[in-house]
Amino acid sequence: LAVAAHPLFPLVEFIRRTSAVEDPILAAIRGQSMGAGRTGEGGAPPITPEAGKLLHILCKAMGAKRVLEVGTGYGYSTLWLARALPHDGELTTIEADPEHARAAQAWLQKAGVADRVRIHQGKAIGVLPALPTKYFDLAFIDADKASYPRYFELALRLVRPGGVVCADNVFWLGAALSEDDVSSEAEGVRRYNRLASSTPGVDTVLLPLGDGLSVSVRSD
Ligand SMILES: C[S@@+](CC[C@H](N)C(=O)[O-])C[C@H]1O[C@@H](n2cnc3c(N)ncnc32)[C@H](O)[C@@H]1O
Repeated sequence: LAVAAHPLFPLVEFIRRTSAVEDPILAAIRGQSMGAGRTGEGGAPPITPEAGKLLHILCKAMGAKRVLEVGTGYGYSTLWLARALPHDGELTTIEADPEHARAAQAWLQKAGVADRVRIHQGKAIGVLPALPTKYFDLAFIDADKASYPRYFELALRLVRPGGVVCADNVFWLGAALSEDDVSSEAEGVRRYNRLASSTPGVDTVLLPLGDGLSVSVRSD
């Protein structure tokens, strides 16, 4: 189904017109990211504007000062998150692809938030274990889907009690709903969803934003 023919398209357009409004920099980053292709094929598909705005609002509502992101891409979600932080806030973001990391750095500089963002260029699985535990207010996961279960376990250790862990693409275009797709990405997303809904001390809701956004809160 073409996007414009989707029955929810007018509602999504309404949301984007009224509340999840992008400025020219956000729109330009999303344009560049959408042209680049899928994750795993050198691409960096961005989250939707409404998911970006939700992450922004969650950070503001929590008074977040320290945020972690796994999968910077070209910096679209990074900018939504960074703009929610105070001037002394810190956003740690991890990106495996040096081209993406370079492009994101340039966009964040242009947007005037580079002072509060540190991009770690490397594979997240190597970077995450070295980060301080119970340090972050919110973690956002949006990198390789096969590693989602491991990212969830690590992110849960890295956020403080009361901290939030979010992940994009938890519907994986519907593959999360059945066991039919046996790809490592679909398996990763399904295991993520099972962990998020069954880990003691964690409360989770899945939201129908874009390809599915999972929001969990760590209560202990
Ligand atoms: C879906 S894109 C991120 C989009 C970004 N969050 C946004 O909304 O603009 C996924 C990104 O994760 C990166 N990535 C893939 N595997 C990774 C890994 N093992 N560690 C860190 N980053 C990885 C990809 O290079 C890609 O840039």
